Amino acid sequence: MESLIIQGGNRLKGTIPISGAKNAALPIMAASILCEGETILRNVPDLRDVRQMCTLLNRLGVKVERDETGAMHLRAEDEMNCHAEYELVSKMRASICVLGPLLAKRRKAQISMPGGCSIGDRPVRLHIKGLEALGGDADLVTGDIVMKAKKLRGAEIFLGGAFGSTVTGTANVLMAATLAEGRTIIESAACEPEIVDLAEFLNKCGARIEGHGTPRIVIEGVASLHGAEHSVIPDRIEAGTYIIAAAVTNGELTLKDCRLEHLVAFIDTLRKVGLNIEKSDKGVSVSSSRRLDPTEITTQPYPGFPTDLQAQTMVLLSLADGNSIVTEKVFPDRFLHVAELNRMGTRLRKEGPTVIVQGVKKLIGAPVMASDLRASAALVLAGLISKGQTRVQRMYHLDRGYEKMELKLKAVGADISRVTDE
Ligand code: EPU
Repeated sequence: MESLIIQGGNRLKGTIPISGAKNAALPIMAASILCEGETILRNVPDLRDVRQMCTLLNRLGVKVERDETGAMHLRAEDEMNCHAEYELVSKMRASICVLGPLLAKRRKAQISMPGGCSIGDRPVRLHIKGLEALGGDADLVTGDIVMKAKKLRGAEIFLGGAFGSTVTGTANVLMAATLAEGRTIIESAACEPEIVDLAEFLNKCGARIEGHGTPRIVIEGVASLHGAEHSVIPDRIEAGTYIIAAAVTNGELTLKDCRLEHLVAFIDTLRKVGLNIEKSDKGVSVSSSRRLDPTEITTQPYPGFPTDLQAQTMVLLSLADGNSIVTEKVFPDRFLHVAELNRMGTRLRKEGPTVIVQGVKKLIGAPVMASDLRASAALVLAGLISKGQTRVQRMYHLDRGYEKMELKLKAVGADISRVTDE
């Protein structure tokens, strides 16, 4: 296993290029199952999760190759295998994104039921409810969801749940509905930019989708889809993470390919806390006033404050002059980073789905254990400002979702390196 070693204290200065969005790339790659002919995707980040999706698609008969420019070519060649096995699904929950495409195109899908994970309970009931409304029959067989359909028919589907809509559930129903007969209306659809990117890709392939980006998506089914060329949107969560890196190190960073319009709630909060975030021809520039104000944040589905930036923002608020309150309304148990951050000197007190963040003067480096992707990013941010050395163990969590993180940080002045554990 690998770890990151960070010597804290350096101010970050320079430019960081933002990679393509993991959570847009994964469902778009899965959508290639629906298409006849070749799809070419640009700006697909080179990540562990993306490589896992390549392996899964390969097993499902989709040929996936990167060319010399980095563009990814996908072509469904063999429709025999419809089974996403436990071995792959347990490594990457986003494997569930093949459920809708397999059911719509091959009329059969068998997918190992994803269990809970370190960010909490992660049900897929809404995915199945939506696909059943389109005409799929679902069964649970030895831990696998098995879905079959003779034919899919458009329907009106409500995808809201106790914690808002579902992002990958919306992706699954949207993908399946493109090939259903007639009109599908998804109410309480997820509005995330990654869903908009998926819908735009599908429309390039010949789908007829309207309303994406709003809670009401209308899909007129078509007989077939063809491949298309598409460039994946930049990763708003990676951008948000580096915005915080600039702020906590009292640095000055410019982010290339960062879309502020995808981060409205986050930017609004950070400006209130004391960050200067401006758009220029070169990208988005970030610097901070030395004094940070405390604030209250509540994570919500898009366009609210993203849960995927909750852990990282907690590090920033730990440096504020006073107490902040962070409430998690998407994954109420997503707080495994709290205990690890406290080992580095933060003062975080968890009360149910809320954490009270007491501002502190300094953090102290320590060996810490990454528990999930975004928690790991928070530990790296804490390491960048801590006195002494921080060792972030279980680097593979970060490699799932941040492309070349240590190289990008090193290039702007961080003292950071990857080591192999003995
Ligand atoms: N939910 C249900 N029933 C369902 C599905 C979801 O109650 O059938 C609940 C969940 O338990 C949760 C809420 O709805 O409380 C939202 O979950 P959602 O289904 O939207 O999450 P997801 O689609 O599994 C995606 C991202 C996550 C991101 C969430 C929320 C991908 C591949 N994953 O997950 O990304 O946190 O949306 O924005 O798009 C990450 O990148 O680190 C990550 C975890």
